[in-house]
Amino acid sequence: MKKVFGILLLALLLLLVACGEEETSSEDTGTDDAPAEENTDESEETENSGEEEATNEDGISIGFSLDTLQEERWQRDRDLFVSKAEELGATVNVQSADSDDAKQISQAENLISQGVDLLVVVPHDAEVSASIVEMAHAEDIPVISYDRLIKNSEVDLYVSFDNERVGEMQATAITELVPQGKYVLIEGADTDNNAHLFKQGQMNILQPLIDSGDIEIVYDQWTKGWEPEEALANMENALTSNDNDIDAVIAANDGTAGGVIQALAAQGMDGEIPVSGQDAELAAVQRIVEGTQTMTVYKPIRDLAERVAELAVQMANGEEIETTTTVNNGQIDVPSILLDPIAVTKDNIDDTIIADGFHSEEDVYQNAD
Ligand code: GAL
Repeated sequence: MKKVFGILLLALLLLLVACGEEETSSEDTGTDDAPAEENTDESEETENSGEEEATNEDGISIGFSLDTLQEERWQRDRDLFVSKAEELGATVNVQSADSDDAKQISQAENLISQGVDLLVVVPHDAEVSASIVEMAHAEDIPVISYDRLIKNSEVDLYVSFDNERVGEMQATAITELVPQGKYVLIEGADTDNNAHLFKQGQMNILQPLIDSGDIEIVYDQWTKGWEPEEALANMENALTSNDNDIDAVIAANDGTAGGVIQALAAQGMDGEIPVSGQDAELAAVQRIVEGTQTMTVYKPIRDLAERVAELAVQMANGEEIETTTTVNNGQIDVPSILLDPIAVTKDNIDDTIIADGFHSEEDVYQNAD
C-alpha cells in the first residue's frame, strides 16, 4: 500500500515539474524574439538580430544608418542594398533615425559597439554626422557616405549621383517652358548637403537669366526635413505674398513638389504653373502624366545601392577599391563615385522609368484618360 502511494506521489511530482518547465520555454522563446520585436518599431528596423551575426562570424557585418524612411526612395535603397549585400555573404543591420540627429548618433554608437565591420551612413545633418565618422574610426571601422556627403570629417568614401547636375536638369526643364517671369524656389532641407548642391545646379542655369532681368526670384525657402507639409505651407506663403502672381516653381524633390501642387490646386492653378521634382516617386510620375507636374529627375537607385554594397564588402575585406573622382567635404578630398541622373518628362517616361522596371506601366498610367 505504502509503496503504491510512494509511486503515485513521485508521478505527481514529476508531472508538476513538467508543467513548471513548459512555462519557462515560452518565456525564453519570447525573450529571444522579444528584443528583435522590441526593436522593430516603425522607425528602428533591425534586419538581423545579434545572434544571427554571431553565427555569421566569418561573414562581413555592415551597419546601415539611414536618416529616414519617409521618402519612397529610401525604402528602395534599403531593400536593394540589403539584398545585394546578403547575396555577397554579408549581414546588414539597418537603422532609421527619423530625421533625429541624436537618434542617428546613438544608433551609430550602438552599431559600432556591436562590432560591425563597416558603416554606411545617409546623414540627417551633414555637419553633425561628422562625429559618427570619428567614433567609427576610433574602432578602425571605415565609413561610407551614402548619397549624402558627411562634411568636415575623414570619411572613407562618398557614393552618390551628380547632384549639381540634378539641379541643372530641374532649372533647364522649367526655364525652357518659362524663359521669362516670376519664380518660386522650394528647396530641400538645409541640413542636407545635397539640397545645397541641387540649389547650386539650379542657380548655374537661373543666374544668367536673373542677371539679364528675364526672370525674378520672388520667393526662396529651404524645406525643414524635406517635409511635404512644410513645402505646402511655404508655397501658400509664396502665393499669398505675391497675390498668386507667379509663373514657375522649382521644387527640389517630388515630396516638396507634391506640397507645392496641393497649394496651387487650392488656388485653381495646378497644371498651369510648371513645377519640377526629383526621385521619380510613383505619385509624381502620375502627376506628370496628368499634367500637374512638369518633370522629375530619375536616379536609378539599384545602381547606387548595389554599387555601394559591392564596395562595402570589398572595403570590409581590406581590398583596394576604385573611385572615379574626389569631392572636397571641407576637410579632405573624399574618394568618390558620382552616378548620372536622368531628366524625365512625359515624353520619356516609357524609355526610362518603365523600361528600367522602376514603376510598372499599369501603375504609371492608372489615372490616365
Ligand atoms: C536627398 C536625396 C533626394 C531626396 C531627399 C529627401 O538627399 O538625394 O533623393 O529624396 O534627400 O529625402
